[in-house]
Amino acid sequence: MTEWLKTAVFYEIYPQSFMDSDGDGIGDFMGIVEKLDYIKDLGCNAIWMNPCFDSSFKDAGYDVRDYRHPAGRYGTLEDLRRLFEEVHKRDMHILLDLVPGHTSEEHPWFVESGRDEQNEYSDRYIWTNSWFQRAEGLPYIAGECKRNGAYIINFFKCQPALNYGFLNPAEQWQKPIDHPACLATRAAMVDVMCYWLEMGCDGFRVDMADSLVKNDDEIKSGTCKVWADMIGRVHERYPDAVFVSEWNNPESAIGMAGFQMDFFLDWHGNGYNLLMRDYDASGRDDSFFKRNSKRSIQDFLGEYLPKYEKIKNKGLYCLITGNHDMIRAACNLDERELKLAYAFLFTMPGAPFIYYGDEIGMRYQNLPCKEGGYTRTGSRTPMQWDDSLNHGFSIADPMSLYLPTDDCDGAPTVQMQQSSKDSLYNAVRELLMIRREQSAFAEHDNLEIVTAQEGIRSFAYRRGNLTMLCNPSGCAETLAVDLTGTEQIYAIGAGRQEGVKYVLEEQSFVICLK
Ligand code: NOJ
Repeated sequence: MTEWLKTAVFYEIYPQSFMDSDGDGIGDFMGIVEKLDYIKDLGCNAIWMNPCFDSSFKDAGYDVRDYRHPAGRYGTLEDLRRLFEEVHKRDMHILLDLVPGHTSEEHPWFVESGRDEQNEYSDRYIWTNSWFQRAEGLPYIAGECKRNGAYIINFFKCQPALNYGFLNPAEQWQKPIDHPACLATRAAMVDVMCYWLEMGCDGFRVDMADSLVKNDDEIKSGTCKVWADMIGRVHERYPDAVFVSEWNNPESAIGMAGFQMDFFLDWHGNGYNLLMRDYDASGRDDSFFKRNSKRSIQDFLGEYLPKYEKIKNKGLYCLITGNHDMIRAACNLDERELKLAYAFLFTMPGAPFIYYGDEIGMRYQNLPCKEGGYTRTGSRTPMQWDDSLNHGFSIADPMSLYLPTDDCDGAPTVQMQQSSKDSLYNAVRELLMIRREQSAFAEHDNLEIVTAQEGIRSFAYRRGNLTMLCNPSGCAETLAVDLTGTEQIYAIGAGRQEGVKYVLEEQSFVICLK
């Protein structure tokens, strides 16, 4: 595994909303440069920046129009290179967001592909043979181009799917994955990756990494084959390039496709979702970290552990505080609950990912859809730095901001939380400091569950010489764990040894060092 990943803690930046350096109301590269010391001081040493390429912005940049040029609203290519340099000067690393499965319908490849005349790009996308031929169950669009055919889309209407082929082609228009046209798509994407690695980025977060080959099987063996080839070719030139997949299947992504990291993503009702976001519109909230939840950690572990065990010696299965597609965790968890949840996430194996603003408990806003965000828009608002105009995000007229800032009472800011000893921000910072100091956290195959039972909310787990104990409930609980002779090096709330049992006070999290 690339060495720096062992101690990596990532900070996800939505560039539109992090810091506006030129006062036009939208965040930019130089704004991020201004705040690198803040990110480093928080304890993060790596960045994942959401898409920053030229785009039609119908899906906030996930509809790329030109893979080789940054969108003007974030700055110039020179500014982006400067960002890479400034990141490296601080011993940090940065991943760009690569969208390999689709482009914008305005991408020149697609414009060419949609022409009636055969050309180099005719098969860069997936077309049926005629305008009335449907796509055998895949989402398609017809009637938009001169070409006599319908094309497959990958996500929104504006995002035609690039052609990496079909696992078992069943129709004449479905190409096998090693068809020259599909190999050309791969080669084009490898070129894009090498271009940015040469420019100075350290790797990629890969959007919808599992979506490349159509009609793939359950383990996505076709898509895995394509990735193994593409990543292999990139690694021949850039052996340290890092890849993290939006996949949620580490066995395929890490075990077969060659990614070093995969995310445990928020899919409704899954183990990750149950930790912090198990609620519905009726007011029911049974998220594990809610004080009054009835859940046991088994609901999470039952899904996490089998996946973790399969890849623990090969790569990192990563836990995140949230991301640009999720409702912010602070929407339903209060500060104490967030502290406990983060303490858990940051002491588990894998590289933690902190979504910008989650370290201060930024709240979810109810906002109309912006750039294809829909319900996600409310998690994408400007970072709240201080109490000055626009919370210090921008000097623009508040009416011309990309999205409005949280102006309701009690909106947290970095400045406010830095000055309060017990703040969420300071808890995050301290936890990340301990993560840096303790070498057991740099091993990622060392997780042992000490105790986690149905019917009791508290649980304990070990990593090397460290034992973590967590009680998310509103009552003290006793665990059959003997930690005599260990030193308590971190505590939210309190815990103590009583004979051969360990008593954890309500809503507590403790780390003991042997
Ligand atoms: C996943 C991204 O995280 C999301 O924001 C985007 O809308 C889709 N992929 C489509 O690219």
